[in-house]
Amino acid sequence: MARTLVISNRKGGSGKSSTSVNMAAELAALGQQVLLVDLDTQGHCAVGLGFKPQRDTPTVHGFLAGRHGLRCAVVESIWPGLHLIPADPLFEHGGVGASELLLRDALVTESLVDDYDTIILDTPPSLDGLLINALCAADRVLVPFVPHYLSGEGVRQLARLLFRVASRGLNERLKVLGFLPVMVDLRIGQHREVNSSLSHQFGAARLLPGIRTDIKVAEAFAVGKPVRAHAPQSRAAADYVQAVLALEKLWV
Ligand SMILES: Nc1ncnc2c1ncn2[C@@H]1O[C@H](COP(=O)(O)OP(=O)(O)OP(=O)(O)O)[C@@H](O)[C@H]1O
Ligand SMILES: [Mg+2]
Repeated sequence: MARTLVISNRKGGSGKSSTSVNMAAELAALGQQVLLVDLDTQGHCAVGLGFKPQRDTPTVHGFLAGRHGLRCAVVESIWPGLHLIPADPLFEHGGVGASELLLRDALVTESLVDDYDTIILDTPPSLDGLLINALCAADRVLVPFVPHYLSGEGVRQLARLLFRVASRGLNERLKVLGFLPVMVDLRIGQHREVNSSLSHQFGAARLLPGIRTDIKVAEAFAVGKPVRAHAPQSRAAADYVQAVLALEKLWV
């Protein structure tokens, strides 16, 4: 039975897609079967894996709009063990059916949870049916954040949303796995302060070792490869290895 991790932060540009693609690739390199589902219509996960969807390619959004099933949208990447369900860049964000549980139900009824060790859901920053479907389908949430003062607000908005999902009884399994600082430079005082304030608020154990600022992360996206394949000797590649080890320790 797969474990499902949603990568979320209500703040845009907080490293959700980079985290999703690179952690998925890292877990697959450890020998896991991994399914990456791109709920953000920006379609960055396909870009990051070098996959170019065509107009009629089935997508998670096509599934949510009732056009087809979910399993038929799975594509293999060129990395062993790593599969993707791409996004539809033409999908209107308001256009998800009424149910918050469409994705969760399909992962089970179409037996995708039986085929994978880990399912990773990349999400949009917007609050809509796409994000709610992802939160309802997941067991854990990982929150990447850039350690600026403003990022606290994105985290607080997400915390309120998690509370809403829990209090409406939509997903009682969902727990915060942890917080992942990205584009971090601990020589900068503000970065140290934001990290320490999150550790105080949520517990030091929930703060994963961060991903340092490294142009290789952006470059890897541009060439459609995870950073471990594009720049295996880079500090970002080393940081993603450590982040995934920490994730495995926290996910008990
Ligand atoms: N460790 C890093 N070092 C340098 N640049 C990074 C790093 N991590 C991410 N970036 C860059 O920061 C930008 C935002 O990252 P990303 O697209 O992953 O964020 P996001 O939260 O998915 O954004 P959105 O909310 O738009 O979906 C991208 O240009 C990405 O290449
Ligand atoms: Mg993104």
